[in-house]
Amino acid sequence: MRPNIKIDVPRLTGELERLARFSDAEAPAVTRVLFTDQDLKARSYLRRLCADAGLAVREDPAGNLFARWVGSEPHLPALGTGSHTDAIPFSGMYDGTVGVLGGLEAIRALQQSGWQPRRSIELLLFTSEEPTRFGVGCVGSRLLSGSLAPEAAAALKDQQGATFDDVRRGAGCRGELTEVRLRDGYYAAFVELHIEQGPLLERDGIPIGAVTAIAAPAALRVRLEGEGGHAGAVLMPQRHDPLCAAAETVLAVEKAAKDSGRLDTVATTGICQVHPGACNSIPSRVILEIDIRDTDLAARDRAVAQIRQAIAQSTTRRELRAEVEILNADPPATAAPAIVNAIQTACRELNLACQPMVSRAYHDALFMARICPTSMIFIPCRAGVSHRPDEYSSPEAIGHGVAVLALTLAELDNAIA
Ligand code: GLV
Ligand code: MN
Ligand code: MN
Repeated sequence: MRPNIKIDVPRLTGELERLARFSDAEAPAVTRVLFTDQDLKARSYLRRLCADAGLAVREDPAGNLFARWVGSEPHLPALGTGSHTDAIPFSGMYDGTVGVLGGLEAIRALQQSGWQPRRSIELLLFTSEEPTRFGVGCVGSRLLSGSLAPEAAAALKDQQGATFDDVRRGAGCRGELTEVRLRDGYYAAFVELHIEQGPLLERDGIPIGAVTAIAAPAALRVRLEGEGGHAGAVLMPQRHDPLCAAAETVLAVEKAAKDSGRLDTVATTGICQVHPGACNSIPSRVILEIDIRDTDLAARDRAVAQIRQAIAQSTTRRELRAEVEILNADPPATAAPAIVNAIQTACRELNLACQPMVSRAYHDALFMARICPTSMIFIPCRAGVSHRPDEYSSPEAIGHGVAVLALTLAELDNAIA
């Protein structure tokens, strides 16, 4: 039986707005970094909402939260949905949160329709989808899927030198990271609802995207060391200025993406830390963080190689030391056709157009796809803007996404033997 669902969009948008207030930046900007006070408050808020919906909430040692609606056949592998609530500095209020609170609203709508799942349906809030604090994105889903060794996760350091292990314990996460990996067959399927973070759905007037693949991301941390000194006293022939090499690197990053001749190759230098950072001091150390992506793994890796070569050339010429650390270099993910079909079926039932599409952003679904059939539901966001305070998705767009998610979960409960 197809559930007759009604999405309470005003309740959901109210909750999204409430969640956005747990922020270290002034509205409309949102900054919510993993395991800061605001992140912990946001997590308690979500726990409360999940408990109010009658879901059984648990937290794993990495801080991934699971809220379970127990099905009538609870021994069967569950259906998973969810996303993240951490937010990069000065970003918006919809990235990730729509998948978490929207996932909760989908469950509540199914509950209120009187429909009963056979399989348990589990809402996830993944720890640290954003790389802000520990340099690597999707720490929670990497651990859940066995894509990151627990010891490597434990040793990740933030900019203050605190390890992930210390920080998560300080945030009250109990147990060992070795316990985080999910047992084989834990989930029968995973579906993540998310804003598109690109312009295509809005441009084409299509309310839903069904994600068929997620592009391959890589990130590099580059440490350039030279010789600092007095900005007036050290003459130009004597200089070994790492910021000049950093400038060349930033341009090389852009060039590597452009030289690929592919629109799908994108490369960005998002962090440049200069030490000591005084205008009358020649820098002695610069740290860059670089993000490189492509839907095609070989093309992504060619861009990475070109960037590394440019760094080597610049630092040799300028007689500097360079250390290049690969923070992550992940393959792309392919969605499971059965999940894409379920999304398309849900869209037909709701009379909503649906466009198969690739995700250029990464998501926890990239890692969930390694352990269970996975896809994502995209909704339009204004002008494709994301990771900015003016990120926006309309209540109508969000309502459509949640309705599609609810019916996709019901369809999967029915379709998977
Ligand atoms: C996720 O936020 C990404 O950077 O794609
Ligand atoms: Mn993001
Ligand atoms: Mn996101």
